[in-house]
Amino acid sequence: MNYRHAYHAGNFADVFKHALLTRILLYLMRKDAPLRYLDTHSGVGRYDLSSEEALRTGEWRDGIGRLMGAELPPAVAALLEPWLGLIPGTAQAPGPYPGSPLIAQRLLRKQDRMTFSELHEHDSRRLVRSLGLEKRCKIMTMDGYQALKAGVPPIERRGLVLVDPPFEERDEFQRMALALENAWEKWPTGTYALWYPLKVGGGADVFRNYLSEGPIRKVLCLELDVDHLREVGPLKGCGMVVVNPPFVLEEEARALLPFLVARLAQGAGAACRIAWLTGE
Ligand SMILES: C[S@@+](CC[C@H](N)C(=O)[O-])C[C@H]1O[C@@H](n2cnc3c(N)ncnc32)[C@H](O)[C@@H]1O
Repeated sequence: MNYRHAYHAGNFADVFKHALLTRILLYLMRKDAPLRYLDTHSGVGRYDLSSEEALRTGEWRDGIGRLMGAELPPAVAALLEPWLGLIPGTAQAPGPYPGSPLIAQRLLRKQDRMTFSELHEHDSRRLVRSLGLEKRCKIMTMDGYQALKAGVPPIERRGLVLVDPPFEERDEFQRMALALENAWEKWPTGTYALWYPLKVGGGADVFRNYLSEGPIRKVLCLELDVDHLREVGPLKGCGMVVVNPPFVLEEEARALLPFLVARLAQGAGAACRIAWLTGE
């Protein structure tokens, strides 16, 4: 377990993931009924963009740094503002960048509940500090796939699972697909968002094909490639499959992703993908 999100917090992949996470949560909150948010690979919750780790890579400057204080087209602003409003500071003087747990904590209501798992003990303790002691939040130092298995279906019977592993293990796509299938069998109406990296030979195509031939229905695939994918060097693309997405998510992605392509491009090959892997 060498992965440390502090080096990557606020990069283009976080922008993509956190903007979509916010859109999904906001949609689920349109109903008053309580919901559950399960975050299987939570991280520490809050990231200091002026830390040694963040400064070493500077990745956030080509991510959230390109959105801070930027003038946005109205249609995009309407979609991004609920999330951008959670991020203090400017590109010159960035404040703490909220990770997925903090985004959920800030957005969700008193009737909602959140379950977080983080395997790294130190990070798990830091997550407790980021979130504070709160009745709505349960933090577990354990494997996220085990937590998912134990956590579905939640008593609320509605909600979102975010699976955001570090992809250090060669079989991460297989583990993720298996965990999704098992969870979906127990809770087929839940919404699941699974983040993955796009790398040459990285296995995303196999993962997509596997899901498109499998039993799970309503699987939307969203991807952002900020350059043509390279075999070496830092990550240049990422994706998210969303099972049972809000019915507005495809339309929102059609407004959002082309904007992110233009704003976050790092090369001429920047592009996005919006496709259904399986339908109804
Ligand atoms: C990509 S980061 C998560 C970022 C976070 N979801 C966010 O958006 O702010 C992945 C995290 O998973 C943790 N991790 C690694 N293996 C894990 C496992 N098997 N179960 C739970 N967490 C794990 C790492 O320590 C790391 O903090």
